[in-house]
Amino acid sequence: MAILRVGSVGLGGISGGVHIPGIERSPDLALAAVCDIDPVRLKERGERYGIPENRRFTDYRDLIACPDVDVVDISTPNNVHREIAEAAARAGKSYDVEKPMTMDTAEAVELARVTHEAGVKSMICFSYRYKAAARYLRSLVAGGRFGRIHHVNMQYYQAWGLAEKDCVRVWRFVKSVAASGALGDLGCHGLDLVSFVTGEKYESVSAHLGTIVTERRLPDGSGRGPVDVDDFSNILAEMSGGISASFQISRFAYGRGNYQRMEVYGEHGALVYHLDRVPGVDELEICDASTGGKYVNVPIPDEFRVDQMQAFADLLNGRGDGLDATVDDGVMNEILLDGILLSDAEKRWVTL
Ligand SMILES: NC(=O)c1ccc[n+]([C@@H]2O[C@H](COP(=O)([O-])OP(=O)(O)OC[C@H]3O[C@@H](n4cnc5c(N)ncnc54)[C@H](O)[C@@H]3O)[C@@H](O)[C@H]2O)c1
Repeated sequence: MAILRVGSVGLGGISGGVHIPGIERSPDLALAAVCDIDPVRLKERGERYGIPENRRFTDYRDLIACPDVDVVDISTPNNVHREIAEAAARAGKSYDVEKPMTMDTAEAVELARVTHEAGVKSMICFSYRYKAAARYLRSLVAGGRFGRIHHVNMQYYQAWGLAEKDCVRVWRFVKSVAASGALGDLGCHGLDLVSFVTGEKYESVSAHLGTIVTERRLPDGSGRGPVDVDDFSNILAEMSGGISASFQISRFAYGRGNYQRMEVYGEHGALVYHLDRVPGVDELEICDASTGGKYVNVPIPDEFRVDQMQAFADLLNGRGDGLDATVDDGVMNEILLDGILLSDAEKRWVTL
């Protein structure tokens, strides 16, 4: 199988922490070109990754047009996901793109249309689908041992928004760039993960969102600017299969790093997925008759250990396991996010 040459757009935190290390680890991928609108970052990353100057771009259109780029990897802020992914698809190049996939449902539907029309492959980076504990939980639920699922409760908590951290007004606090705050940043992962592990769809939602710190220091030191996105959300959801789900999402959860907890209560037992109870570690607890009615940590079989960027390579090479999020899952996620925002704005349940 030929090695696929990847062009990466947006060389910030997630690119350097997850995407490019994953590309470098994969025997099926090679980093061929890079793009960032920040020329200083572009030069620094280009040198770090050994990309020659003629394959370092400040305009994503040039990267997509580069004949040495087979597929496009997108890790920019949210407001430009759609235009870059759409341009890749129109050029006949498959892409992966970070979450939230787009700014709203209308953009998502348009991106899906262009992607399908172009016949290219897409992967939306719902990274927690690649946590072994979540995959194992999914397979146990699908196996039926826990019976019908009644309740799923999911928390996704970080702490960096707290006033005492005094974080500047980065793009994540600006609606025109981020679309929403903790909801689109953290909540979209939790919402995707619950649907992923249960195999069920969302039917209606009721939500309360709020902003705790309403203005922050501007990054250039020129004063303060407003925060026009949510800092937290509490969501109730009705799902297919009779599941009643709840979500608590916040950037103001003291002492939490990247903490997730998902409780799944079924007819014949329960499962609890944890992330970051032990720093960076994903774990699974089970409680049923076989554990004597006690919650016990279970070992995660190796077959559930998967690398996100290798999964992208496998998808491109026709060896995917069908568990990656595609543009169609991205559309469902955007419908859900828009429904939650509407529910909060109008203080009512919203049918999706
Ligand atoms: N899957 C996950 O777990 C996860 C984690 C963190 C971030 N993300 C997502 O990844 C994306 C990036 O987040 P981040 O934390 O890396 O942000 P970041 O601010 O650290 O990096 C973004 C980079 O994109 C560059 N950029 C901005 N506009 C561009 C454009 N038009 N063309 C090329 N480059 C451009 C910026 O200069 C910056 O270098 C966001 O969509 C975010 O939601 C996902």
